[in-house]
Amino acid sequence: MEPSTKMRIAALADLHHGRSDVNLKELFQAVTAQADILLLCGDITDHGLPDEAKSLAEEINRHLHVPALAVMGNHDYHSDQSELVDEILGSAGVNVLNGDSVEIGGVGFAGACGFAGGFDRWTLHPWGERAIRAFVQAAIDEVLKLEMALSRLDTTSRVVLLHYAPIRETVVGEPLEIFPFLGSSRLEDPLNHFKVSVAFHGHAHKGTHAGQTSTGVPVFNVSMPVLRATFPKRLPFHVIEVERDT
Ligand SMILES: [Fe+2]
Ligand SMILES: [Fe+2]
Repeated sequence: MEPSTKMRIAALADLHHGRSDVNLKELFQAVTAQADILLLCGDITDHGLPDEAKSLAEEINRHLHVPALAVMGNHDYHSDQSELVDEILGSAGVNVLNGDSVEIGGVGFAGACGFAGGFDRWTLHPWGERAIRAFVQAAIDEVLKLEMALSRLDTTSRVVLLHYAPIRETVVGEPLEIFPFLGSSRLEDPLNHFKVSVAFHGHAHKGTHAGQTSTGVPVFNVSMPVLRATFPKRLPFHVIEVERDT
């Protein structure tokens, strides 16, 4: 049989392992059957605890039989043990991207957590108190990481994993008051500049599943609660196909 020219990518976010009641055996077996790779877009654990990561790593080892890539979410940083969480997930074969890129099966992947700061002309600017300037700098640093990661890819298809939203459209549904904490338009620029094929994010649990950047890059909010609300009859992961270089 000819090798497929398409890669089936399954993505989900906000697993929050440690408080989640999702059936991981059923989930990972379905991903293995329906996709060539799994992307975990942050808030993999609920409190960023090594024990949560260990328990998830065991389930992945048992039931997931396709490669997995991930980015950290804010919850994964909460216990200041993200390096250990990264290492434990790595032991189960999950490659956690933090401003890194990787090519798998003729498709390029770039990932970073991203950060908050708001959208469009209401984006927070680095002006005033030191705390505000540091907050905005944290968003700019994530943008630079994503740009560096994308600049290293020369594949036809380039796929981005984020935790925070790069556009406003996919956080709609959340209370307006918290939009600035759900993502940053600063993250949209690299998606447009590098003509990314598709970007996935989570974090906005009550957001909107699908949107696009100003130049038409498809953006999917794959937060599990969003997927459950959008596709109530499916298991909470989203599969899309991209061209792979052969
Ligand atoms: Fe979350
Ligand atoms: Fe989050």
